[in-house]
Amino acid sequence: MVFMSDDNFQKTVVVLFGALGDLAQRKLMPALYQLHKAGLLKEGCQILGLSREAGSTEQFQEKCAASLKRFLSKADHQAEVIASFLQRLTYLSLDFNHAEGYEGITKWLAASPHESLILYYATPASLYAPISTHLHTLGAISKRTRVVVEKPIGHDHQSSTLINDQLAKHFTESQIYRIDHYLGKETVQNLIALRFANSLFESQWNHNHISHVEITVAEAVGIEGRWGYFDKAGQLRDMVQNHLIQLLCLIAMDPPSDLSADSIRDEKVKVLKALKPLSAEQMAMYLVRGRYAKGICDGQVVPGYLEEEGANQDSSTETFVAFKAEIANWRWAGVPFYMRTGKRLPEKLSQIVIHFKPAAHYLFDQDQKHIAHNKLIIRLQPDEGISLQVLTKDQGLDKGMRLRQGPLSLNFSETYKASRVSDAYERLLWEVIKGNQYLFVRRDEVEYAWRWVDKLIDGWEASGIMPKKYPAGSWGPASAITLIARDGRYWHEDV
Ligand code: BG6
Repeated sequence: MVFMSDDNFQKTVVVLFGALGDLAQRKLMPALYQLHKAGLLKEGCQILGLSREAGSTEQFQEKCAASLKRFLSKADHQAEVIASFLQRLTYLSLDFNHAEGYEGITKWLAASPHESLILYYATPASLYAPISTHLHTLGAISKRTRVVVEKPIGHDHQSSTLINDQLAKHFTESQIYRIDHYLGKETVQNLIALRFANSLFESQWNHNHISHVEITVAEAVGIEGRWGYFDKAGQLRDMVQNHLIQLLCLIAMDPPSDLSADSIRDEKVKVLKALKPLSAEQMAMYLVRGRYAKGICDGQVVPGYLEEEGANQDSSTETFVAFKAEIANWRWAGVPFYMRTGKRLPEKLSQIVIHFKPAAHYLFDQDQKHIAHNKLIIRLQPDEGISLQVLTKDQGLDKGMRLRQGPLSLNFSETYKASRVSDAYERLLWEVIKGNQYLFVRRDEVEYAWRWVDKLIDGWEASGIMPKKYPAGSWGPASAITLIARDGRYWHEDV
């Protein structure tokens, strides 16, 4: 068993590269603060922030204090706790590409007694190699070092292999923590509990009982000033290769023999290996790329993708993608997984809908036949919860045996009022500190996911088809509806 008990973790120090960047300030500092506030950081757990910009520790602390104020809720922002958290922070300015300056890190490490060291690379992947090499030269990397890296790991299979090889020069796989922040979300972890702690579901979880599965990850935001990055990536690389494929794996994987990192990851890899590539004909029918045009979101008129700041008019990047995936194995033979994700959709919503097959022999009114199947709706965000749509008899003397569909619902925030839902990064950092890798992506997962995504990208690049327009605030191009309607189905909210 790999789980350590929560009080059996080591005294850790954290070296954070890219400490002034958006990820560090928006997500990592608030997450570290929450761990501090919860008493989970040991005394002496110091954090060294590194960035190119000149500045002192005091200035860094001020900047972090301002970010905490901005990104924490009022209830979480407690002046005394903030003050004691800031005492853990030190800052060093460093050009990551050049060896000069790195000895500042070793001096700091020598002065900060620790049992384990976390290196957090909140930087572009192109910097992983120089940072690791310089640290290695100074002897700062040991068996007790863990390195945390962010997506995207490359932009295709080849580049991801290169990045992984560079990391593997200095770290073993058991030292590398590749983040997919969706795995840190409480409700995503709940998929494992829901599936494997409830025999009710697991016994039905296969092609005999499930007709199809929908996975939707919708965002109302646009690209938030990240045109430069996003236009090179697009929605397929930015969201599908990692977040959506991880959700697919958690839904489709076989039960692991235990909850250890490798047992879970082995099962996920089996799903990835069984993911069928789409043929050219299937791509024409079952793959839709879209790009938002000007429209209305949250009651505001918002610009189209090509009108965003910094936009290049020749762009052929997609901000929406929908497709039908199939998994060629015993459990899922013939069960389509309809997936879609996009920016500037009507709302932020991550949801999985499992559609069960109808009863073998239908007894009720023919005009209701289309509603006569159960659905399990797993809402990952917002309003996290689970709802099982069941059919009952409609009430009333005049209703005969008319059917009615209604939910058996579990809304997490209403049911478990007392508990605060932790942010994904809190959970992930806490697992790094404890040395648990089960919420992190193993090298082979990244590479199999890229292989599958690369084939899609090659296919549509060869087709030369441009993304279809959709108005901001809509559910994507009409062809995303046709994609599923072609199989006689509809997306859950279109009912
Ligand atoms: C990131 C993507 O990985 O996930 C962003 O790069 C996206 O484009 C974000 O907006 C969505 O995350 P969440 O947690 O808000 O659903």
